[in-house]
Amino acid sequence: MRAKIFRSIFAAALLIGLQFWPACGVEFPQPTPTPHPAPIPQPSPGPQPTAPEFSYSTWANYGLLPPQIQAQVLTALNECFPGEGSLTLSTVPGEIYLATVRQGGMPSFASMVSFLTNWRLPDTLGRGDTIANVCTATAWRGKGLATQLLNRVIADFRTKRPGVKNLYLTVREDNTAARSLYQKLGFVQIGQVVDATRPGVPLLTMVLRFP
Ligand SMILES: CC(C)(COP(=O)(O)OP(=O)(O)OC[C@H]1O[C@@H](n2cnc3c(N)ncnc32)[C@H](O)[C@@H]1OP(=O)(O)O)[C@@H](O)C(=O)NCCC(=O)NCCS
Repeated sequence: MRAKIFRSIFAAALLIGLQFWPACGVEFPQPTPTPHPAPIPQPSPGPQPTAPEFSYSTWANYGLLPPQIQAQVLTALNECFPGEGSLTLSTVPGEIYLATVRQGGMPSFASMVSFLTNWRLPDTLGRGDTIANVCTATAWRGKGLATQLLNRVIADFRTKRPGVKNLYLTVREDNTAARSLYQKLGFVQIGQVVDATRPGVPLLTMVLRFP
């Protein structure tokens, strides 16, 4: 009987002890809140990359171009018109409008447009002043270079050949980028012939007319 009483008292004491455990237990030291870490100093933004500066020039003859630019022009034309070959630049009557950019201190090809005087046009159109070899190096596309060069050709054309009212070009029907470029400049389609270099893809003739 005594043992039973003793067990009851012990159980009651244990319950009471557990109830007050948090209060009567050993207080564990709480970690002191650490202050927020100081912001890591960011490196100051150094000189921002500047947009490349392009230089524009006009050349009366492909043969007058500096040799390293001549080589770059041919490489670019092969990239722009793979498998098509390019117009024989040295024998074409006309001018080359060129955009270059400095790389490693040297001028480097960026974009070109040929302006051909009295060039033979496809189909029944006879001859006319024509734009050809419109080509921007892949790295410099979408920066307005072809637009810049074509605007220069058009402005010069109007000054130098005031009596001539039509400026022509041809473009493959599937060349949506070039067609969009020409349409923005005001060229309209006037003809369609078979592209000898790619049968099945029509070659469109477009014209820019001046009043
Ligand atoms: C077509 C080409 C000459 C454009 O040269 P570019 O210097 O990049 O042209 P621009 O930056 O001046 O672009 C002028 C307009 O062309 C059109 N254009 C250019 N790239 C384009 C693309 N990838 N998709 C659709 N339209 C495009 C747009 O209308 C653009 O005007 P936006 O910038 O207001 O949209 C160039 O893509 C290229 O060399 N292509 C391969 C050669 C070629 O097809 N030549 C034309 C043969 S007829």
